[in-house]
Amino acid sequence: MKAVAVNPTLREIAVREHPEPRLESATAVIARPLDVGVCGTDREIASFAYGTPPAGESWLVNGHECLAQVVKVGADVKTVRPGDLVVPIVRRPCPHAECAPCRAARQDFCVTGDFTERGIRGAHGFMTEQIVDDERFFLPMPAALRDVGVLVEPLTIAEKAIEQVRAIETRLPESARHLAANPKRAVVLGAGPVGLLGAMVLRLAGYTTYVYSRSAQDAVHGPILTGIGATLVPAEQQSVSDLADTVGNIDLVYEAVGASSLAFEVLKFLGMNGVFVFTGVPGRKAAIKIDTDRVMRHLVLKNQVAFGTVNAGYASYEHAARDLGEFATRWPAVVRGLITSRSPLEAAPTLLTTKPSGIKSVVSIAS
Ligand code: BGC
Ligand code: ZN
Repeated sequence: MKAVAVNPTLREIAVREHPEPRLESATAVIARPLDVGVCGTDREIASFAYGTPPAGESWLVNGHECLAQVVKVGADVKTVRPGDLVVPIVRRPCPHAECAPCRAARQDFCVTGDFTERGIRGAHGFMTEQIVDDERFFLPMPAALRDVGVLVEPLTIAEKAIEQVRAIETRLPESARHLAANPKRAVVLGAGPVGLLGAMVLRLAGYTTYVYSRSAQDAVHGPILTGIGATLVPAEQQSVSDLADTVGNIDLVYEAVGASSLAFEVLKFLGMNGVFVFTGVPGRKAAIKIDTDRVMRHLVLKNQVAFGTVNAGYASYEHAARDLGEFATRWPAVVRGLITSRSPLEAAPTLLTTKPSGIKSVVSIAS
């Protein structure tokens, strides 16, 4: 069968022959990927800056954002049946007995660093005709989400973030947590898929939401932001300090651009009891100057919390599937509008190596 794969040593990306998977255990599931999304991580892997083939192999099959359909199941599989839609989770636990998070199926908090990630690190991805894995790594999806289910994986980033924000907010008295009684203001940095899905989660949670972006295009982003009731603050026209004046007390920042200079500039303006979430992974650039005294003073005097979040656990996938269904009911045109291109498998190497346009590009492998 065909697969899109990279060879970091040869610096090649190609559609190649890849062995068909087999049911290796009674709890294994074979599925055929229908849609596979492309994100910044995939583009970095395609430029050989990131990504590791499985041990002993020289090619890595790309793709980690996937909606698939179950083809065949092992004798003991209980959660899915042939024909069902599923989303495979990305990260696989490390093998070490002493890694408590991995042993508790929370490999997103792996402490040894020996986890693998499908399509990214040490395990093949989903840009291929069939995949196999244990049933515990597949999330069942309702048939109604056939068109947009590929957005579940990027949405899990926002879900895991907001779960942690809620955990942090338990430090406040109960009466100060309810958003209806205490309207809170969130700033999303970036209007790519991770930023927009984050803005949708924040709107659903009841935050007054501002999206600060340099690249938002009126025609593409305008209807999406208006549709969900978020306000665009164009970075070409407003400095970060203007942004802070517009917003007032910034309760939450959801960073989704991976640019440290912007992130730390905004951190300077985080408000009272504010929480700052980093989701982006910046490339290595020259060091920047930051006013660390100001940042530290504010962290202390304003009870601020800044944290980073990577990958997501199974529960965040469940929350993402639930919220995507909610988005599709509330804002059907908006959700469909996030997927701005669909290409066949053969076009994936070009798609992965040319400048991105639109919002989410998807490789449609089967229908
Ligand atoms: C993926 C995560 C992964 C991260 C780092 C992201 O693009 O969505 O699942 O943990 O890259 O490899
Ligand atoms: Zn990704």
